[in-house]
Amino acid sequence: MLVLGIESTCDETSASIVEDGKKVLSNIISSQVNEHLRWKGVVPELASRLHLEKIIPVIDEAVKESKVKLEDIDLFAAANRPGLIGGLLIGVSAAKSLAWKLNKPFIGINHIEAHLYSPHLENDIKFPYIGLLASGGHTLLIRAESFVKYEVLGTTIDDAVGEAFDKVAKYFDLGYPGGPSVEKSALSGDEKAFDFPIANLYKSERIYDMSYSGLKTAVIHHLKKFQKKESYTINDIAASFQKRAFDVLIKKVILACTNLNIKNIIVAGGVAANKYLREQFYKLEGYNIFFPSLKYSTDNGAMIAGFAFHKYKETGSDDLSVGVSSRVPGYKSSL
Ligand code: KG4
Ligand code: ZN
Repeated sequence: MLVLGIESTCDETSASIVEDGKKVLSNIISSQVNEHLRWKGVVPELASRLHLEKIIPVIDEAVKESKVKLEDIDLFAAANRPGLIGGLLIGVSAAKSLAWKLNKPFIGINHIEAHLYSPHLENDIKFPYIGLLASGGHTLLIRAESFVKYEVLGTTIDDAVGEAFDKVAKYFDLGYPGGPSVEKSALSGDEKAFDFPIANLYKSERIYDMSYSGLKTAVIHHLKKFQKKESYTINDIAASFQKRAFDVLIKKVILACTNLNIKNIIVAGGVAANKYLREQFYKLEGYNIFFPSLKYSTDNGAMIAGFAFHKYKETGSDDLSVGVSSRVPGYKSSL
């Protein structure tokens, strides 16, 4: 089965053709990083205009590179939630139009579920597993039963981990996009230079929840309070922040694995591109740990097309009247 998957939830316009959920025939990504650079963050209106400009050339290129004919595609899929509304509308409209014109089914895909599918593109992973999704908008801990059946164990109660990276990078002018620039700066820093606090959400039903706004505030507004060395560099701040941010993620994943007696772990989402995070996870003994390769960590169409294959098998297609949504209920806890 050939699936064309479209991703346009944030600042990447991507289209990909994947065969049977696994064989990636093409994965074209047009990044808007250079256009948002001036603003040091994603400007939603600008993002929408760029998606509109790029969507057709990106789809054309994906079809061309895959060497399949557009008419031979069996299913058209697009991320329809969560994300920036303008981008979602453009990707979904493109997929629906193709499905309608070619008389093929359409399916709307949850971007977060697609991220969690990304390690499956290149690995055979047994269920159940504990999944950690760490991106710019979400931080989610799940227990997966099958490709489509999962339970949300915990979420961030405020900022997402990627958002904290982006804000720290912006404040200290480390570069844009934030995550990779903090990672780079941290490479030559001392992670023990600051002893930043982490939120202690270990009570009753909140044991798997996470919080990043306190850490972000400590780093940005109360730096001196947590200083452990006489003098420090910006790289020390980045390294200490990065360590603390990831300590929490690892701790919660292990807590879930221990309590639920699960040995398989997958980590996905843009933050999973971080090599330091990968190293920390790979150091853990007694677990099977799966990350997507770098090209499938940040937003891409292949994860949409790959996941759509399984979702379609379980639930069938969507009506062309299906809409888009900026949020998914239950993906962000609030106190
Ligand atoms: O999944 P993604 O591409 O888009 C969303 O769905 O949000 O994730 C983007 C997020 C951004 O916050 C970005 O700073 C972060 O992932 N990120 C990283 C790294 N690469 C991207 N965070 C830490 N280290 C990285 N190397
Ligand atoms: Zn994403």
